[in-house]
Amino acid sequence: MLIAVDGLTRTYDLGEAKVHALRGVDLAVEAGEYLAIMGPSGSGKSTLMHILGCLDTPSTGRYVLGGEEVSSLTGRELAKVRNRRIGFVFQNFNLLPRIDLVANVALPLVYHGSVSKAERLGRAAKQLEELGLGHRLKHRPNELSGGERQRAAIARALINEPSILLADEPTGNLDSKTGREIMDILDGLSAAGKTVCLVTHDANVAEHAGRTVHMQDGAIAREDFS
Ligand SMILES: Nc1ncnc2c1ncn2[C@@H]1O[C@H](COP(=O)(O)OP(=O)(O)O)[C@@H](O)[C@H]1O
Ligand SMILES: [Mg+2]
Repeated sequence: MLIAVDGLTRTYDLGEAKVHALRGVDLAVEAGEYLAIMGPSGSGKSTLMHILGCLDTPSTGRYVLGGEEVSSLTGRELAKVRNRRIGFVFQNFNLLPRIDLVANVALPLVYHGSVSKAERLGRAAKQLEELGLGHRLKHRPNELSGGERQRAAIARALINEPSILLADEPTGNLDSKTGREIMDILDGLSAAGKTVCLVTHDANVAEHAGRTVHMQDGAIAREDFS
């Protein structure tokens, strides 16, 4: 099993109030699976994705990623695992506004350490070209359409050749035509063997996945297979 999550909880401690965002999630994802996560706003989808993406750690419970227990790693160790295994795509693209697309896409390689600047920029340009953005290399994010920004964000997520691509409402800020273009890309990555896990509000988007997990109140309420 590529992802194995057991009794995962995440409580946000706001002093007086505690928010129980995850109340015991069990989930197993096989290598190569295409998974959708649905559920009402506030049901814990993003919290779960952030933990799966090693951007956050659970309060209790276990997360084993590729055979490695990651639930109790320190921030630094977690960042290494994330860099090596995970690509993350956000609803709001999260590109840095002051640098061009090549520099944005090359950034994860900087944290990697051992790749020269020339190679970083070359690989980033190639990744952008593969996603149809070869004519936008020197543009800044605010000079692009939403669909182009999300494609650049996908390029950044892929630059380290992760086996897992996680996308939190990747089409949430896009019109339906542009959303379909993004889904074509995710479908292609899934067909090429990547493990893809996405959050969506849109049943049409979820249909692209082979399995849909429905969350409610911080837990998995049910699953559908298609
Ligand atoms: N950083 C945070 N601090 C405090 N509460 C949070 C934080 N992030 C999320 N929450 C709360 O946790 C619950 C689950 O949020 P989230 O995982 O974002 O749900 P979803 O993505 O399904 O909308 C919500 O009640 C939300 O308000
Ligand atoms: Mg969310």
